[in-house]
Amino acid sequence: MHLGVNIDHIATLRQARLTVYPDPIGAADICVEAGADGITAHLREDRRHINDADMQALARRSSAGKIHLNMEMAATEEMVAIAVKLKPQACCLVPEKRQELTTEGGLDVAGHIERMEKIVSQLTAAGCRVSMFIDPSDAQIRASAAIGAPVIELHTGHYANLTGKARADELVRLQLGAKLAVELGMIVHAGHGLTLDNMADIVAIPELSGLNIGHAIIADAIFKGLHQAVADFKAAMIR
Ligand code: PXP
Repeated sequence: MHLGVNIDHIATLRQARLTVYPDPIGAADICVEAGADGITAHLREDRRHINDADMQALARRSSAGKIHLNMEMAATEEMVAIAVKLKPQACCLVPEKRQELTTEGGLDVAGHIERMEKIVSQLTAAGCRVSMFIDPSDAQIRASAAIGAPVIELHTGHYANLTGKARADELVRLQLGAKLAVELGMIVHAGHGLTLDNMADIVAIPELSGLNIGHAIIADAIFKGLHQAVADFKAAMIR
């Protein structure tokens, strides 16, 4: 199973003081050395963490074969133009609201079929493997398959925030969603809100082939260093 480490929060720390450190690109290299299979970074419309220069530097690293880059992006013309130019190996389309603390909920693919289909084909033509970040609903999974997206990333944020029976029910939705997506011929990833404490049941979903994890890894890195934090998540996934 592929571990994509989301490095946005390295840039969040830098932007809190508008300094030049900590450097997210150096962090990406450490993540890869520690066992990350890929680097995920979200170029938000407001550039609140990762900025254009970061994404360009990450794309140079990815075209040199040093990292596998997954660019998270809103489904906008501006972001599509940037991705088409930078050609990351993967693009993950996410919903984006300016005031949100982090990505809330999945993308409404079913409600915007034509626009999403056009964006998927533009990104695919540029050589990017496109992933749709969606909630585990049948409608969104079927819509993603219908527009030709090769990958979906199931939103685990709700699962992570729930407890007890509600969490167990959400786990079943994720399990069934992953199964349906594979039946429809798609590759299934998952991410958001995952930690060492809550990821075991998600990792155990047999249809999943990748996780994207950010906040908890960077938080753990404060106490044990980034290399160890990434290595511990990778080891937990293998276990
Ligand atoms: N996957 C997607 C699509 C995301 O938007 C995010 C957050 O940027 C993540 C995964 C990682 O979430 P977290 O930082 O909560 O691990």
